[in-house]
Amino acid sequence: MLPIPVKRRKKESPTPNDLHAPPGLFPGLCIFLVERRMGAARRGFLTALAQRKGFTVAPEFSDGVTHVVSEQNSLDEVLSWLERKTGRAGQCAGEQRSPHYLDISWFTESMSSGRPVSVEDRHCLQGIMPAPSSDKADLSTIQPYGCQRRTPLIHHNAQITDVLEILARAASFQGSEVRQLGFTRAASVLKSLPFPLQSAKEAEDLPMCGGHCKAVIREILEDGVCREAEELKASEHYQCMELFTSIFGVGVQTAERWYKDGARNLKDLQGLNLKLTEEQRAGLEHFTDLRLPVTLGEADRIEDLVRGALQKFVPDIQITMTGGFRRGKQQGHDVDFLITHPDDSTLTGLLKNAVDWMDSKGLLLYQHMKKRSHAPPRTNKGGMDGHETCYAIFALPASNVEESKSEVPGVSLNGSCASDVPSHDWRAVRVDLVVTPHSEYPYALLGWTGSKHFERELRRFTWDKKKLTLNSHGLHDAGKKCFISATSEEDIFTYLGLQYVPPSDRNA
Ligand code: UTP
Ligand code: MN
Repeated sequence: MLPIPVKRRKKESPTPNDLHAPPGLFPGLCIFLVERRMGAARRGFLTALAQRKGFTVAPEFSDGVTHVVSEQNSLDEVLSWLERKTGRAGQCAGEQRSPHYLDISWFTESMSSGRPVSVEDRHCLQGIMPAPSSDKADLSTIQPYGCQRRTPLIHHNAQITDVLEILARAASFQGSEVRQLGFTRAASVLKSLPFPLQSAKEAEDLPMCGGHCKAVIREILEDGVCREAEELKASEHYQCMELFTSIFGVGVQTAERWYKDGARNLKDLQGLNLKLTEEQRAGLEHFTDLRLPVTLGEADRIEDLVRGALQKFVPDIQITMTGGFRRGKQQGHDVDFLITHPDDSTLTGLLKNAVDWMDSKGLLLYQHMKKRSHAPPRTNKGGMDGHETCYAIFALPASNVEESKSEVPGVSLNGSCASDVPSHDWRAVRVDLVVTPHSEYPYALLGWTGSKHFERELRRFTWDKKKLTLNSHGLHDAGKKCFISATSEEDIFTYLGLQYVPPSDRNA
């Protein structure tokens, strides 16, 4: 859940003064994001993104708004939606003091530039949505594997992919990996489209998209909602599974067992007298902190702490932040680091020494070390990741915690919201520290950058097309019984005959 909308929602009907967001870096500019078709979650995400970059985003529409930004809406649709929401007629373009009515393209370009780009005709909403233009990519040319496509973080079909991802999650909660993959693959294709899907007819031509997915897409395009997803979201099973699987160390099977045993909220878990793993115990203890997104700023502070600890033992140690942050995400559920050095001998005992040192300084709330157990990638799925790893929960000192965090209401054990400010002067953050020999570093970097679906597709492609097995240790040729060495990620793509996909386009 994102901090700003949560806090604003607590207020009853806002007074005009409430409608003005705090001033940002660009005086005179005030963005309003239209929730219609965008959805609350994406609106919250985009709001937080813009605010971090210094843009002023108004929570409500008011006279002070200068740029109204919407996604997949015509000007007519936005104006009548605003009229319904505010009870007054939206000003039409051309009227005095009228805001700009803009497509999301203006917003994404401004975020990439770090400043508001000037408004051009192509950014402005049209009276009615333009018919799909002929310069759109021919859908039949879409590449079948996610690793063959470019998938940016911010894309054009979020309203649809959000729903498909709910259906994918629900399928995984029901134990159906096949259906989960089906929904995930369809969502991934839509994320890679360089334009918004606008008609059911277009959806008909989408590859990697079965009948169920097409029906869902049609429903969203025509009605704006998907009844199946709405019902799932409202169901007790889905909500409980979401809650339980969000606990560190709890997978779908454990969550399902708890649900079957009658647990419906976190407090019930105590009543069940469960045998919890150390990991789950720590996950429950720090549940409120861990469910808050980690910001990029906080991830940078954690990197400083980790680097400082490692450098006490190996001054020229190499450390790289991977996972979602390397793909350009501004928030994550954890922070992932890869640690390596050209001289492998310096790595022996390093992680344990650094972790013990951080522990002695009170920086760790939990840690679990996994020894290196290198299993060569022999199966078509690539096998297990056997790097030496520390799964940790850091106590990030409060001076490094971004301010908005302490204002976010937590969740108490009975599942209700508690607005009390935490009594401790740190926030818990999940961190994975992974040590890799230098020769395996490019594979580990590729494997730990994700996204999970990109990795799954890369391994599927590698097996289907090259009969090689890939994991985060290497690429194995079972026929020739040899490993293929690589000095960079680019090397690996080249060897596989794939065009290089930069991390920012691996959000499959
Ligand atoms: P994460 O689960 O951390 O996801 O795994 P993420 O993309 O960073 O997203 P958030 O923001 O934290 O939720 C990062 C990558 O590391 C790989 C996963 O496959 C994923 O691609 N990974 C994770 C492993 O290879 N092994 C593991 O044990 C865990
Ligand atoms: Mn991560």
